[in-house]
Amino acid sequence: MMVNQKPGRQKNVRGPSVRALILGELRRREGSPVSGTFLANTIGVSRVAVWKNIQALTGAGYPVRTPEKGYALETGENDFLYPWEFGGRENLFRYFSGTGSTMDRAREFAEQGLPGGTVVCAEKQSAGRGRNGRTWASRQGGLFFSLLERPNLALADYALPAMLLQIALAKALGRICGKKALLRWPNDVYIDQRKIAGVLTELAGEGDKITWLAGGAGVNVNNPVPSGRITSCAEILGRKVSRRETLTAILDELEDLKKEYAPAGAYENRGLAKEWNSLAEGLGGRVAVIDPRHEDYRFTDEKPEGEERILARGTYAGTDGAGRCLVKTGTEKGTLPFSPGAASIIFL
Ligand code: BTN
Repeated sequence: MMVNQKPGRQKNVRGPSVRALILGELRRREGSPVSGTFLANTIGVSRVAVWKNIQALTGAGYPVRTPEKGYALETGENDFLYPWEFGGRENLFRYFSGTGSTMDRAREFAEQGLPGGTVVCAEKQSAGRGRNGRTWASRQGGLFFSLLERPNLALADYALPAMLLQIALAKALGRICGKKALLRWPNDVYIDQRKIAGVLTELAGEGDKITWLAGGAGVNVNNPVPSGRITSCAEILGRKVSRRETLTAILDELEDLKKEYAPAGAYENRGLAKEWNSLAEGLGGRVAVIDPRHEDYRFTDEKPEGEERILARGTYAGTDGAGRCLVKTGTEKGTLPFSPGAASIIFL
């Protein structure tokens, strides 16, 4: 189900909705009651409008008490991802309490003509997907969103927006978790050598230009994760982490990165690749490049060649300005570039 509110208070006026303003007032009072009349006067709406919005907030799960003197928001957990939780970005948010995949919703919104910057998020996904046809387990407490972009890019450069998103994820998650987050080519974020987030890109084009692109991110925040190769913010910090603040931090980082590397939608490839490489995991290490269909299959150098589709072995030299992984083969083939769709790398 999609839960959205009409943006703005008046037609064509962009600004926080009445719901966002009421929530802000309630939060400012940290559990103390505020009267309906005060809220109505402060925000500039009728008391009925205040009442209706309080009803809607309660219906959406906010613990609003109605003591005699008005309304009070109980302190404690209310980590919601509703559009009105995202300040100036409210009008760009599309929220689903549950959906198949936010990638499908993003595609539909793109086809309906929604602008770049639209954020589609869901509490739960019943058909979350990852790279190479894998399933993305979307359990309660995780953060699942797709970001619709309309970049001024050739199809061949489709990897660049995902690189930006990945850098934003690494910076935001590193700060939140108090640890260095690294990027594993092509689209994963790792902390302590365990995956904390992944990015999936889907797009449509016309001629050689991208018409829209959706960057989908799955972030392990409070969702349970299997021990071993995967981690979450909650596991690292030993406490629950606000998904709302996590998503805001990611979008803030992305906004800053866009100003630097994609002003007016035109990408500055070299600088972007340099920034990406500054966060790359395993630079200079030995890697095998394999067909991504065999990505899950771990192997060592001892295994016989040909058992999997090994495309190359060599030294990992980071990514280039088109998002391709560079591998120095040490042979007459020199340094080979591999596109994200056609290869995965395994550290040996
Ligand atoms: C990967 O690591 O393979 C990429 C995972 C991407 C998962 C996210 S969750 C939000 C969006 N919706 C999906 O169905 N997939 C992406």
